[in-house]
Amino acid sequence: MTVVVAFVSRKGGVGKSTLARALAAVAARRGLATTLADLDPDQQTSVRWQRLREAAGFFPPLSVQSYRNVDSAIAGEQAADLLIVDAPGNSPAITSEIASIAHIIVQPTASSFDDLQPAVELFYELKASGIPKSRLYFALSRMLDPDEEQAARAYVEVADFNLLPGAVVERARYREAHNRGLAFVESPGEDLSGPAGQILGALLTKILQKHRLLHQPAPAERAAPDLATAQFAQRPVVRGLSSYTKAAS
Ligand SMILES: Nc1ncnc2c1ncn2[C@@H]1O[C@H](COP(=O)(O)OP(=O)(O)O)[C@@H](O)[C@H]1O
Ligand SMILES: [Mg+2]
Repeated sequence: MTVVVAFVSRKGGVGKSTLARALAAVAARRGLATTLADLDPDQQTSVRWQRLREAAGFFPPLSVQSYRNVDSAIAGEQAADLLIVDAPGNSPAITSEIASIAHIIVQPTASSFDDLQPAVELFYELKASGIPKSRLYFALSRMLDPDEEQAARAYVEVADFNLLPGAVVERARYREAHNRGLAFVESPGEDLSGPAGQILGALLTKILQKHRLLHQPAPAERAAPDLATAQFAQRPVVRGLSSYTKAAS
């Protein structure tokens, strides 16, 4: 069974496609059969980026496919270990549909209240619609300095949602990497022991745990009870029978 990780948000430009592409690159490097499903037909960010990557011949090659909805993505990628869903912004119905199916739902957010407030509201809505809070994660994105990051972290903690460790900081070289068909973690000089590596490492750990869980062999089927045992199980308990037997013997 495929592990499904979705990047969602109400807003555009928060870093969904950025994190989705980076996770695809890191997971493929780790040997997971990974597909990145681009569900944003207006932007096609990941699909266009894949064309650049393919033309440049960067390693590892990645599977990036455009899908109309999450159901067709899951149906089309059953052989994948990991399906990463790059969702469109500002699409409540599509977002709920994706979130209802994904094992891990990540919402990148920047640090201003303009970003944090609608981000927290979206998670409240998803939670109210029945999605377990344990599947919902914030990822700090486009951070400009450590104070900003700390304030955003405090905001999410007060809202009482899960927050991935680390952060994606804002760097011009990340955009340059995208322009060439590289994920931001593949940009020259990027150090995976840094804050961005922490986010991706934490996600990868959760994905591998989920993957193991989904592929655990089913518990051995219990042997069906034979007729005598079944009859015995059904036999009404006769109160006092044992003391009668004892007395008679
Ligand atoms: N941490 C970052 N540093 C620099 N540029 C970034 C960063 N995150 C995103 N961007 C750029 O911002 C734009 C929007 O990011 P994107 O990931 O496409 O957002 P979304 O998918 O949420 O709409 C893209 O041009 C992307 O290259
Ligand atoms: Mg996008």
